[in-house]
Amino acid sequence: MPGSLNPTALVRLLGSWSNGALPAYRELADVVRLLVMDGRIPLDVALPSERALAQTLGLSRTTVTAAYANLREQGFLTAGQGSRGRTSIPHRSAPVSVPGLAAPEGLQDLAYASLPAAGEVVHRAFADALTELPALLPGFGYDALGVPALREAIAQKYSAEGVPTTADQILVTSGAQHALNIVLHTLVGKQDRVLVEHPTYPNALDAIRAAGCKVLPVALSPHASSGWEIDAFVSTMNQQHPSMAYVVPDFHNPTGRIMSDLQRRQLARAAASAGTVLVVDETLRGLNLDGVQSAPMSTFSPSVVSIGSLSKSHWAGLRTGWIRAEEAMITRFVATRTTMDLGGPVVEQLAAARLVRSFAEPLDARLQELRHNRESLLALLAEHLPEWEVERPLGGLTAWCRLPTACSTALTVLAPDFGLRLAAGPRFGVGGAFEHYLRVPYTLPPAQLEFAVGALRAAQDKLDASPQLRRTLKAGRPPAVAVA
Ligand SMILES: Cc1ncc(COP(=O)(O)O)c(C=O)c1O
Repeated sequence: MPGSLNPTALVRLLGSWSNGALPAYRELADVVRLLVMDGRIPLDVALPSERALAQTLGLSRTTVTAAYANLREQGFLTAGQGSRGRTSIPHRSAPVSVPGLAAPEGLQDLAYASLPAAGEVVHRAFADALTELPALLPGFGYDALGVPALREAIAQKYSAEGVPTTADQILVTSGAQHALNIVLHTLVGKQDRVLVEHPTYPNALDAIRAAGCKVLPVALSPHASSGWEIDAFVSTMNQQHPSMAYVVPDFHNPTGRIMSDLQRRQLARAAASAGTVLVVDETLRGLNLDGVQSAPMSTFSPSVVSIGSLSKSHWAGLRTGWIRAEEAMITRFVATRTTMDLGGPVVEQLAAARLVRSFAEPLDARLQELRHNRESLLALLAEHLPEWEVERPLGGLTAWCRLPTACSTALTVLAPDFGLRLAAGPRFGVGGAFEHYLRVPYTLPPAQLEFAVGALRAAQDKLDASPQLRRTLKAGRPPAVAVA
């Protein structure tokens, strides 16, 4: 039976809701909205009448009317009978949290760490691919392993990096996330243990959980310069014998760290002796901002399974990635793949083959731009949010920031009011960890970063000025925004 909330109970929940930073009706509406989103005010509960709430709060009725109208507009209050609307969640929340191809309207997106296409290069690759297409049209169009020209190009790329590879060791996929799902469905079953870095890439965590596996998180070193706590990885492998370990040693998402060759060797050795399949996500390997050299993880053990993608080096819209592994393993992966789909689109693969063959072509300009953006972001954060501790990323697309209080979810919930979409720190971990952290991408140009950091400052100020807001939102679950 749906209930109602009396004015005294609501006033208790509101706490010290006003700090005078905004008109009173907006502050009142904001706090009620946050209480609803946080579950502290249940759904489908009738709020007090405007008159009763105005009286209890000592406000004018116009203020409460305006606050309720604001909540109705945003979909947090149904029309209700008379003035007693009932709490609800807006229907538009799902599309807003999944921005898709279009830039989200009116919001700057710091949840996605992704660049626009290396446009000219990608466009030319497609134009050239079309000239090759007629030769393939008489075929059936199915190839679950991938178009041979692309498999050959990827194999040559690995060989050029010092890991001799044949085309038979390559399976082309629709991106790295697809690759990870193929690997998971082949190698692990329900309740199997999968070791991950902590923090790690949220979509990988989701895929591992969706496969029914038990996540074994191993913390990275608190000191950026030490990279990974390899001893902890080794002892977890020795003691728990996970079926699989998923790691991002090349410009780790979210920290931007790179694993040293010594640590790679130790990790590969530990995985081999524990019987753990080491799955290495190399999606960000091309985004080497400071020129730090490292050998691909597969240099250190033939049984490493490597996942790669063109999403960050060229464009996520290509939806092209791959798996490199021993031939026998590729045979198992392709059997899994055909339970999901029967191959990738041919023109995309012909274009991707061209892009892989001249992989470095768009990278010089891309890295130049990213270095510039990274410096802008670090300088802006140092100037406007000096209380945040920001780890300097060596590559990749994001900076991992330590916040002075456990307020990442609260910032994320408030962010849309300041024109931002954020991914809260706990999305990058398990068990509610990383409330003290926020990942900030430097994929936007400096002018937009300036806006974004200004908005982060404003949101942080709002939280600092309102301990009640912080408390209200602290225990909340992070919003399930789409992240990349
Ligand atoms: C570490 C990592 N792996 C995989 C992906 C997803 O790659 P794809 O677009 O190829 O599926 C991303 C995207 O952000 C990533 O950062």
